Amino acid sequence: MSDPVRAFVAIRVPPSPGLNEILAELGSLGRAVRPVAAENLHLTLKFLGDTDPDWLRDVGDILSGVGRRSAAFEVSLSGVGAFPSLSRPSVIWTGMAPEEPVIQLAAAVEAALVEYGFSAESRPFRAHVTLARIKRRPPRELADRLARRVQTELSRVLVDELVLMRSDLTPDGSRYTPLFMARIGGGTEVACPEIRPAG
Ligand code: 2AM
Repeated sequence: MSDPVRAFVAIRVPPSPGLNEILAELGSLGRAVRPVAAENLHLTLKFLGDTDPDWLRDVGDILSGVGRRSAAFEVSLSGVGAFPSLSRPSVIWTGMAPEEPVIQLAAAVEAALVEYGFSAESRPFRAHVTLARIKRRPPRELADRLARRVQTELSRVLVDELVLMRSDLTPDGSRYTPLFMARIGGGTEVACPEIRPAG
């Protein structure tokens, strides 16, 4: 087998003024708070982990099938929260409303991939977009800043594609490369060079 590829299925989140503003605010809180680069914002529907590249070709077909059976929808990215908790944050995220279409889409992706042979996710799905990671004890103001943002709408996102993403871990953080995009509602699929059959 060729080298495994660390991969996940995601919805990409385009930059917006509201998101840029909160990323800048988080970035101003010192080195303990590492905001995600605006071009890397995404919502993970299914984390695949290290995957045989032969399987990734099939994942493209599976996502196209889920995309054809689903309908596009719009969500509002709003509010902020933290995992595991606001008092001991390691990940700062924004949630979404409504959550239900995202939960259903994640469940459809999960079911199709588990049927194919991927392991089932053991943790409950939490619909979130990671905004920043906390590397050590954060400054006190972080909790106040987040509390002020609980109701804020940061952006609206049209969810109309499923993306199979490659993730390479580098000393500067994860580098993401889209491998395949399936249109939700059917339509064009774009295979990126990395998963074309070797020839
Ligand atoms: P996070 O943003 O909440 O950290 C790529 O690593 C993406 O997959 C990230 O968005 C990450 O979520 C998500 N993910 C889900 N489960 C993961 C796992 N077990 N290990 C690493 N990333 C995971």
